[in-house]
Amino acid sequence: MDANTDAQQIVAALTLEEKVSLLSGETFWTTTPAPGLESITVADGPHGVRKVPADSGAIGGAEPATCFPPAVALGATFDLSLVERVGAAIAAEARALGVDVVLGPGVNIKRSPLCGRNFEYVSEDPLVAGEIGTAMVRGIQSGGAGTSLKHYAANNQETERKRISADIDERTLREIYLKPFQRVVQQAAPTTVMSSYNRVNGTYVGEDRRLLTDILREEWGFDGLVMSDWGAVDDRIAGVRAGLDLEMPHSGEDRDRGLLAAVRDGRLTESDVDACVTRLVRLVHDCHARAATPAPQADPDAHHALAREAAGRAVVLLKNDDGLLPLAPQTRVAVVGELARTPRYQGAGSSQIVPTRLDDALAAIRDDAAGEVAFAPGYTLEEDASTDEGLAAEAVAAARDAEVVLFFAGLPDWSEAEGRDRPHIDLPAVQLDLLDRVLEANPRVIVVLSNGSVVRLARFADRVPAIVEGWLLGQAGGGATADVLYGRVNPSGRLTETVPLRLEDTPAHLSFPGGDLHVTYGEGIFVGYRWYDGRDMPVQFPFGHGLSYTSFEHADLAADDDGAGGIRVRVRVTNTGARAGREVVQCYLGKEDSEVPRPPRALAAFAVVDLEPGGSRVVELAVPRADLAYWSVRHGRWMVEGGAYRVDVGASSRDVRCTVTVDVPGEEQPPPLTRQSSVAEMLAHPVAGRLVESRASDLLSGEMVRLISSMPVGRLPDLPGSGVTADQVDQMLAVANGEA
Ligand code: GLC
Repeated sequence: MDANTDAQQIVAALTLEEKVSLLSGETFWTTTPAPGLESITVADGPHGVRKVPADSGAIGGAEPATCFPPAVALGATFDLSLVERVGAAIAAEARALGVDVVLGPGVNIKRSPLCGRNFEYVSEDPLVAGEIGTAMVRGIQSGGAGTSLKHYAANNQETERKRISADIDERTLREIYLKPFQRVVQQAAPTTVMSSYNRVNGTYVGEDRRLLTDILREEWGFDGLVMSDWGAVDDRIAGVRAGLDLEMPHSGEDRDRGLLAAVRDGRLTESDVDACVTRLVRLVHDCHARAATPAPQADPDAHHALAREAAGRAVVLLKNDDGLLPLAPQTRVAVVGELARTPRYQGAGSSQIVPTRLDDALAAIRDDAAGEVAFAPGYTLEEDASTDEGLAAEAVAAARDAEVVLFFAGLPDWSEAEGRDRPHIDLPAVQLDLLDRVLEANPRVIVVLSNGSVVRLARFADRVPAIVEGWLLGQAGGGATADVLYGRVNPSGRLTETVPLRLEDTPAHLSFPGGDLHVTYGEGIFVGYRWYDGRDMPVQFPFGHGLSYTSFEHADLAADDDGAGGIRVRVRVTNTGARAGREVVQCYLGKEDSEVPRPPRALAAFAVVDLEPGGSRVVELAVPRADLAYWSVRHGRWMVEGGAYRVDVGASSRDVRCTVTVDVPGEEQPPPLTRQSSVAEMLAHPVAGRLVESRASDLLSGEMVRLISSMPVGRLPDLPGSGVTADQVDQMLAVANGEA
């Protein structure tokens, strides 16, 4: 018996009251059981398992679990196989804790660096967010646990997140904010999708049939369950109609009574309810089937080692003048900054894991250094911390006596969290002031950052020889930081979010976080590097940037049609340095003569390649035809523009190493010509062009053709002296469209 039939039989045997009770959870973390149907357990993620008692709505009190690097760090690895392995490890721990569905990954676009949950998201770029999200879903589901892709959709800020309307034009919505979800749904088939708190263009997502059913299910082919974010349901009846299957957490008796009444008075049909309940039953059966497979072992030591490996791959070396890094063990270092001893390793809110153990960078550095390592906390981490002269003097003295200073700076716990956006992107003043004083005592300062979203570096970036972006690295981040600083790991992390020179330069600056319960995405598709490149603005460090302890050359770039209307790219990458390393090869596409606005370039493919010194490899990158499409608002569908595309391959969005152009065929079935088609479009048509020229030749001479070229061809007969009748226009259209 297949899953569908089985589910339908169970549903058919249920009473209406039993069905309605299934439309919301039984507790904070479990679904409601029914005759022939057990309940399942869900738990947060995304970067580890936060298993709390079923009736607990608290953040604390979770079972210990491996705290892997959050999405901000995993994304910076650009390493899909590594992210899959992390996902499989999370699944193993979920199953050991009796969790059926892990609530993650989060793939919302980082529209503004101010968003308090950017640590839980992957990138400003939809391709990176979609690919990393795909890898995480594949990993978790391969390990026998379910996933919940979140937060669908356009939940790009925490301010007023439960009421705000994200007002977004259709092309931007499709190409930027839905695209990561579409990639994950179509590439990895997540078990569930979590609908977000917010509205999109005025409608709560949990009540939006176009988003939950027309697009998610009918266009993309999603066949799993949609659950609400916790407490996100406003009108449950509208939600059932829209395709919101499960309200989480549990809802009161009133809700059930309201649903029963709606079925009885015809506002809902029982088949509407059955559709939701059937998907729940299928989910429960799917989870039980997964639970019946052998569970991978949840070995805390192995998972800690994996967390350290992932963290090491996530570190982005932003600057390294004169090869100051990696450090030699005998270099006399002073470590300054409380964050070296009290690591910030994850974000605050529902994703907060209780780690199985916790490394700190100070201890790890002391393990690596040959001699004594001085430490000075330098500052404190509370919200309104001011300079403590004693701490500052101690730090300055330590810096003066050292060959090199490792200055740990970053965002304390209170500064960025679920439910709270940042008011600015600066580091705490107490840290910046101390850095100024330390630099006076010793210019050889390596700044090591811990932050969930980018911070402004302009105040010191030109004054320090090295900057290491450590993001939030999870429980093993301290050891991983030492691995990079002492060269056991050659850094290969790359920026998935542009580091701007100042907040005022950011794309969303004038509209974030909105007001009056509306936020307008006025920058349109120009999010992140698309904005800075489109306006040719300087940035501190560009999207895709990251240095290595070796160097790479990109050569012999070639691009051609992949035989299916997409593009196949090949480039030879060579390690031209003296030590093994990893390059993240990035392929961007641009189209100068486009009929729609486009950024100068957009990431179309990427790959990581590991090379020994002198090693060389031809890297193949695929850009399937679907990824060439833009959303045509005019035609209400995806369209591929024919013609030449520029292929830029390099080491970041601003470090293009080689460029070629490639021709791409246009739409096989271009949209039919209509009376609204312009004279110019008719003239460009292989068949219609000749017909228009023969019928309206005197109109198409000299100055006149310029004046009428953008006129809808349906208006030609109204033009005095055109000599063209309405019937002739219709006849030309019919011939051009192959209908006559
Ligand atoms: C929270 C979050 C969501 C989380 C859920 C359960 O409000 O928005 O990401 O999975 O509730 O904690």
